[in-house]
Amino acid sequence: MKKVTVTDIKSAKNGRKIVMITAYDALFAKLFDEYVDIILVGDSLNMVFAGKPDTLSATMKQMIYHTKAVCNGAKRSFVVFDMPYGSYTDKKKALKNALKVYKKTDADAVKLEGGAKKAKIVEELVKNGIAVMGHIGLMPQQVRGEGGYKVKTDKEKLVKDAQALEKAGVFAIVLEGVKADIAKEITQSVKVPVIGIGAGKDVDGQVIVWSDMLGFFEDFKPKFVKRYLQGAKLTKEALQRYAKEVEEGVFPSKEESY
Ligand code: KIV
Repeated sequence: MKKVTVTDIKSAKNGRKIVMITAYDALFAKLFDEYVDIILVGDSLNMVFAGKPDTLSATMKQMIYHTKAVCNGAKRSFVVFDMPYGSYTDKKKALKNALKVYKKTDADAVKLEGGAKKAKIVEELVKNGIAVMGHIGLMPQQVRGEGGYKVKTDKEKLVKDAQALEKAGVFAIVLEGVKADIAKEITQSVKVPVIGIGAGKDVDGQVIVWSDMLGFFEDFKPKFVKRYLQGAKLTKEALQRYAKEVEEGVFPSKEESY
């Protein structure tokens, strides 16, 4: 079992599609490991795992704890640590926190949100031997500042952002919430892989939040989500059977008893 490296990810540009998913614990990381190239310990952690309305409350401490757990489960995939809101506001702070990630976890790379405005920060991390994944388009950490999640349509700005990140040394870019035709042009404008979420099919790979993809999150379904499992429905049905069998004294049977 060969571990996926940053070189494998970079060389996938214009070749095979990169498969990426989020995970926040060892159990799911182990289940996903065989089928994906990249596991992202996203700051979506705080929405999926902690039930918060957005990602902004995620902290370095939480992210490190969950990344350690993911690395315990993922032996093959490339693990990316999502830098939480406020952890990379300037070069010094970003470097201090990114170094902490490499020192305290086995993560292979960090991801941070922002285009041209964050290029100097990316450059600083790359200069210090840290693999950086960019994230442009709809940036969830901007949700309060922008008053909601908005699909991005400014092609010129997005191309400039992607190219600034490429120049700064990112090995790949997540492109979120961008119309498919614009995403295609952005992908063609850089030599690093562009991994889409809500960005159509003409990108170099896809990333999705696991609980959306497996149908565990039922409150609403964003347009870009495809549910490959009715996770919540199946779980509820199983729980209903379990509760019934406990109440009726059917579980545990002789088979489950010592
Ligand atoms: O935090 C996250 O899960 C992400 C993905 C939406 C790309 O950043």
